[in-house]
Amino acid sequence: MTPSADILGKTGGHDWDLVGELAALVSGDTVIRRDVPLAKHTTLRLGGPAEVFAEPASEADLAALVNGCAVRGTPFFILGRGSNLIVRDGGVRGVVIHLAHPCFSRIEIDGARLRCGAGAKLKNVAVEAKRHDLSGLEFLEGIPGTVGGALRMNAGAMGAWTFDAVESFRFMNSRGEIHQRISGEVPVEYRACPLLITNIALGAVFRGTPLPREEIEKRMKAYSEKRWESQPAAPSAGCVFKNPAAIPAGKLVDELGLKGTRVGGAVVSAEHGNFIVNDGGATARDVLGLIALLQARVREARGIELETEVEIIGEDH
Ligand code: EPU
Repeated sequence: MTPSADILGKTGGHDWDLVGELAALVSGDTVIRRDVPLAKHTTLRLGGPAEVFAEPASEADLAALVNGCAVRGTPFFILGRGSNLIVRDGGVRGVVIHLAHPCFSRIEIDGARLRCGAGAKLKNVAVEAKRHDLSGLEFLEGIPGTVGGALRMNAGAMGAWTFDAVESFRFMNSRGEIHQRISGEVPVEYRACPLLITNIALGAVFRGTPLPREEIEKRMKAYSEKRWESQPAAPSAGCVFKNPAAIPAGKLVDELGLKGTRVGGAVVSAEHGNFIVNDGGATARDVLGLIALLQARVREARGIELETEVEIIGEDH
């Protein structure tokens, strides 16, 4: 049997101890478990379990896990805050790696620079910048993600995106080797840093600009008010679709009268047409059904192809 088939051991009836094998490669501080529900690790609050779920306790342990997966042909997925993620109801085969250990969430101030680990919450980055009278990171305040996720998808809000504020970043490749890049050297686009699709973001150096704290506070307050008045508080994965060039996706859905459209427990938000909320008990199947329905309606009415912005992973069954 090939190693890649081994990970399917549960369905194939083989008693192959992937957890035990991976645990043997890492320090005792790294947590590795089987069949961990992912719903509580996503802001949409739905989806099936991770076959194996690992929280490495250091970069060395992360490298060991990544190498261990590579040798066995086992797929792995790096989970951030799960705020831009739909996990299918059948869960995720292979290893889901969560950078939740404190060693990945450091935020260190160095003059006008903030050195941040991939696991640091964007809100904390914005707050630390404010505490040190550094402007330019206010837009991160309301994005419910981590630095790693924001780097990978070049997350944005309020007319700014992550790489506007990044000076350099570190990443690990699929062999566990660590590299660093100056942000200007690397192509980024609206909602993507292609280099970080196949490599793991480890952290970034953000650069702020000195500004009196009251000014920074004023901006953060304005952004937060705009968000609260235009976006839903119910569980969601943020904006579902990328904005097409012609018109913002939310406006399009709104104009077509599609707010409130429902499939099972998944509903198009009344507050913002580009959000699907979990109205309680929604399944990934409901959400994906609603996404397909919206895409079809928009295609018929306007001839526009709505492309998903959320990441969709896992198996249907
Ligand atoms: N609009 C409507 N109806 C709606 C929603 C929006 O008419 O239901 C109109 C608004 O009035 C505005 C325009 O559409 O004129 C754009 O709306 P908004 O300012 O809310 O911005 P957006 O383009 O829909 C983008 C990001 C958000 C980010 C906001 C705030 C994308 C796909 N979305 O939304 O990011 O929070 O700007 O800056 O680029 C996310 O990435 O998950 C996300 C939520």
